[in-house]
Amino acid sequence: MINILITSENAARLSQIVSLIGECGNYRTTRVAGRPSSLVERGDSLDAFDVLIVDASSLETAELPVVGKLCHRRPQVTSILLIPDASPQTLIEAMRAGFRDVLGWPLNKTSLCEALSRIESQLALNGTHETQIVSFLSCKGGAGTSFIASNVAHAISDSQQKRVLLIDLSQLFGDAAFLVSDEKPPSSLPQMCAQVERMDAAFFDACLVHVSDTFHILAGAGDPVKASEIKEERLEWILGIAVPRYDVVIFDLGQSINPLSILALDRSNQIHLVLQASMPHVRAGRRLQEILASLAYPADRTRLLLNRYTRHGERARAALEEVLGMRPYQVIPEDTEIVSESVNHGVPVAKLSRNSAVSRSLLALASNIVSLSAGSEEARLKGEPRLSRFFGRSPAPKLKAM
Ligand SMILES: Nc1ncnc2c1ncn2[C@@H]1O[C@H](COP(=O)(O)OP(=O)(O)OP(=O)(O)O)[C@@H](O)[C@H]1O
Ligand SMILES: [Mg+2]
Repeated sequence: MINILITSENAARLSQIVSLIGECGNYRTTRVAGRPSSLVERGDSLDAFDVLIVDASSLETAELPVVGKLCHRRPQVTSILLIPDASPQTLIEAMRAGFRDVLGWPLNKTSLCEALSRIESQLALNGTHETQIVSFLSCKGGAGTSFIASNVAHAISDSQQKRVLLIDLSQLFGDAAFLVSDEKPPSSLPQMCAQVERMDAAFFDACLVHVSDTFHILAGAGDPVKASEIKEERLEWILGIAVPRYDVVIFDLGQSINPLSILALDRSNQIHLVLQASMPHVRAGRRLQEILASLAYPADRTRLLLNRYTRHGERARAALEEVLGMRPYQVIPEDTEIVSESVNHGVPVAKLSRNSAVSRSLLALASNIVSLSAGSEEARLKGEPRLSRFFGRSPAPKLKAM
């Protein structure tokens, strides 16, 4: 998938461009409010992007010399200029600076789609790298979301030989890093967000917990006050530069549905809802399902994970399947002894006891997540960003009454 970076001084136009790109196809976008010079300090983190779109009101604000330098150092980045005056003279000057395409404003969707399609074909010839993005969301506090997200992340890196990044976006008391590592996180998401302007690849790497060479964690805020310091546009930048570096990115979203978690959900190929076999969880699961439907996330991207399952949960499980209209994608059994030992020592459960039922179910989940065909990628939501629907939501499709 092409990773596109867009700069503009105009926030409304940024959103409009992202929306049009969504209509063109399945592209990953990152917005930066400002002129191209605001990217200079960001060093080699810009290497994560395939396309740079500069929206400018004039050649002066397009900062051609700056873009020229940025492009010269990164021949793999294709740049597109959006400008009201797309005259032949503008075209010549922009091309000299390294822009591949110049499109007039108002932006014509067909021209934009054609430009992106040309770049996509070129990149396909060179072989592109796909990242699978998977979110874990709690139906109710304490459902086991962090335990599952962190252990599945470990299992995917360990048994499936993938490069995995776990991002703890849980905004209450993010603790996912401590469940699979005894290392003190060198930094946290809000700390990283505070420094995005000077974040190059080495700096990014130094902020992560390195559980192994192929499993890294970006630690959560730790408490809701610090979590409130995470700004959406900064998180968007971190995701823009982080995602292409991994085969799989896993989000622990906790219980929150807000602009930050929507940023993650918008990018997710799979959304796993974690719940237990009890009526309070069934009711909460149903509410969450309604919210996701109202935000237009397609049901086929959603999966249920039934955690802490025991044989006493049979009736509640039947009610759950009836009310939510879905069968659990994976059942994870209750195993208080092994799970307590795992979380208390910060050791992945598969390392402690690979053959236990809880480990086997998590390994099976990891394997299923990875083996999902690339076809599911195409099912990813296109079009307008979900945020606009979050605040001006269309009515939810009818779900089964409880
Ligand atoms: N399958 C299981 N068997 C036994 N205990 C479990 C299982 N899954 C989770 N637990 C226990 O449940 C507790 C809560 O788990 P976890 O922190 O992952 O929940 P959470 O949904 O992330 O909670 P929060 O809402 O606080 O973020 C942990 O103490 C863990 O030991
Ligand atoms: Mg949690």
